[in-house]
Amino acid sequence: MVTNSDVIADHLLERTSRGLAAAVSAAVGDGSLADGARLPPIRRLASDLELSPSTVSAAWRLLATARVIRADGRRGTVITAHAQPGPVRYRRALEHSSAFNLDLSTGMPDAALLPDLGAALSRLHRAGVSGSYLDDPIVPGLVESLAQDWPYETDEFMIVDGAMDALDQVSSHLLRYGDGVIVENPSFPPLLDLLDALGVRHAGVDVDEEGMMPSQFAEALDQHPRAVFLQPRAHNPTGVSMSSERAQELARLVAPHPIFVIEDDSAGSVAAARPVSLGRWIPSRTVHVRSFSKSYGPDLRLAAMSGPRELVDALRERRLLGQGWTSRLLQAVLIDLLTQPATRRQVARARGAYASRRRKLRAALEREGVSIMGDDGLNIWLPVRDETSALIALASRGIGAAAGSPFLTKRESASHIRVTAGLVERDFARVGHELAIAATLRPHAGPR
Ligand SMILES: Cc1ncc(COP(=O)(O)O)c(C=O)c1O
Repeated sequence: MVTNSDVIADHLLERTSRGLAAAVSAAVGDGSLADGARLPPIRRLASDLELSPSTVSAAWRLLATARVIRADGRRGTVITAHAQPGPVRYRRALEHSSAFNLDLSTGMPDAALLPDLGAALSRLHRAGVSGSYLDDPIVPGLVESLAQDWPYETDEFMIVDGAMDALDQVSSHLLRYGDGVIVENPSFPPLLDLLDALGVRHAGVDVDEEGMMPSQFAEALDQHPRAVFLQPRAHNPTGVSMSSERAQELARLVAPHPIFVIEDDSAGSVAAARPVSLGRWIPSRTVHVRSFSKSYGPDLRLAAMSGPRELVDALRERRLLGQGWTSRLLQAVLIDLLTQPATRRQVARARGAYASRRRKLRAALEREGVSIMGDDGLNIWLPVRDETSALIALASRGIGAAAGSPFLTKRESASHIRVTAGLVERDFARVGHELAIAATLRPHAGPR
């Protein structure tokens, strides 16, 4: 009879904890270990495979992080039914959203503030007609346009299908099962889901008004991470934009370590702060991503990315085995959007509107005795006594907000909810009042 030890042995290519974790993942992937399959006890498997029990335990920890296995009481360790990677945290953050009068759970831009894509499309002529599949993947003129307000000097750009596509490509290229990385606490849930799907461990570093806190950051660097992920401007969810001094300090701390910094500038041109990047000091280790979703529309699915030449070349080559390039038709639309004076004025108007909405909601909260951090972007990170009670109370008043816990990367973090202030157009005093009340509610004791 073929045992699960035999199945794992058949997939084992490398006799390390990572190799063992990869073998179990591969066996789950090809169906030879099904959901719910029981794994042999650690000592037995160690003896069957002639590995040390500590190697097996380390592999089990990696697999548990990636949610490939879980402890199931007396049944021992089993392959989990959630082995399929997916946007677990992302769904949890937004699961309360339904028919609210005022849905502030989404983190989405206000459709009324986006530029008119129809006008840009009507100006297209021969875009999208490329000579060959191997032509330059960026249309002429786009690099020059991007370079005008890129936060550091570079001409190594790549156009991708949104910031998440960039994070996915860069992470899949740079990271291996079992690697560790630094992220912010709080962080963007889909990034955490992506790292989980890749079996990458993440350590959170708290954020203050200027960005990641240097002392915690230095400690996290001592744990030999392979990369750092940060949001330089309008951090989602806190609204913090990194100061130039903080960027310089973080760059100084990173410099002795052979790792990459991956920056996700998701708000792009609707952020109030100027572009900022560690790339100004450590360009050969920085990947900087700017999304156009918040400024020009999420359905454009466009982001620009810069990085060291070898990395960008490697990603371009790899991409030729899949999608190839980002539609030149869309790139031509982007050039039009970036250069037309009327569109630039519209984006400036949107930037002003988001800043003003955020300021007004913040002032309303302050009048209610609630202070929040951050000064930029579409979202506010509201401290609450109890997440569930706050969400339920707001829902009963017709207001949707996102659960804060999926954003958290440290267990001991205080409770918060995320509120998309950029979608509040009026009634700031009333909305501030409802949020302030929700923030004070204690956990519901439940029926006795
Ligand atoms: C921090 C962060 N990164 C990435 C994204 C997704 O960007 P894109 O639409 O370009 O994939 C968002 C969208 O809300 C975001 O807030």
